[in-house]
Amino acid sequence: MQTVTANEIAKNMEVIGTLEGFVAETVLGSLLDPDNCWQPTDFLPDLTKEDAIDEIKKLRERTAAIPDSVISSLVGNMITEEALPSYQTYFNLMINEDKDLTSKNGWVRWSRAWTAEENRHGDLLNKYLYLSGRCDMKAVEATIHRLIYNGFDANTDHDPYQAIVYTSFQERATKISHVNTGKLADKAGETSLSRICKTIAGDEARHEKAYKLFMTKIFEIDPTGAIRAFEQMMRKQIVMPIVLMAEGNKNPNIFADFSAITQKIGVYTTWDYASIIEHLVSLWKIEHLTGLKDGAAKAQEYLCNLANRYKKIAERMKVPEEINLSWLSNPKLAF
Ligand SMILES: [Fe+2]
Ligand SMILES: [Fe+2]
Repeated sequence: MQTVTANEIAKNMEVIGTLEGFVAETVLGSLLDPDNCWQPTDFLPDLTKEDAIDEIKKLRERTAAIPDSVISSLVGNMITEEALPSYQTYFNLMINEDKDLTSKNGWVRWSRAWTAEENRHGDLLNKYLYLSGRCDMKAVEATIHRLIYNGFDANTDHDPYQAIVYTSFQERATKISHVNTGKLADKAGETSLSRICKTIAGDEARHEKAYKLFMTKIFEIDPTGAIRAFEQMMRKQIVMPIVLMAEGNKNPNIFADFSAITQKIGVYTTWDYASIIEHLVSLWKIEHLTGLKDGAAKAQEYLCNLANRYKKIAERMKVPEEINLSWLSNPKLAF
């Protein structure tokens, strides 16, 4: 069901247009210079060196200690990152009114610089997992292929406000997932994976901060439109970007299984979902917004109670069973 009219989208796009200069400044202030930032090879054995084979062996000895469930969860996180072509397309279809990927428009510059940073995440995790020998890479690659083949639906109804709510939420969610994976890697003694996860999480944190700031600006300019978009997005729920990997997949439960694993090992849980809502409701001062029109008070009430509703769901949730995914090369089912 379409949650927003064409007129509302046009009005929202006007507001988005007024933020173009601010977004351009954020690109310069918050995103990285390509020549002066980390690259995937900084974290991987240097294959040009004589000791490359020894370094790969050492990596494989370290990764052998990582539980299967953590590897499966990491594969899912990597697949999420690898569907970047879909995310860049999604963002540009909505925001790029010039229909030009070299446009100087702040939003288009943002989309390019953001994509360029994100591109390193999938590259790094993919190469790391490949070298580890812990995965059936053909199965993993087929899932990535399937996901990009199927596309991406953030369920934002072409509304740029809902899209910025979605990205604010999702960048925080991926940050949490990477941080928690890093902790599990530490626990398994694989400190190089922990460093990788923390570094990626650092990128996600910068992106999250920027998207949240864009939405804060929208709240300042158009509080009624902004709170409606936040409410609509949360009523539909934030779906993980990789939900469509299941469609047409040999295992139609692959997304549900992946979610169950992340829930079970604490990489991303319903508690996290609730905590993100709580954080955004507080950050955007939903409780104290004034000057709202046209029934937006109802949205205010809904959003202020929402985190507690999810916490109650989280309390009642059962711990999922052990699950074995086809992405593993030699599964041991060792949770
Ligand atoms: Fe990422
Ligand atoms: Fe991200």
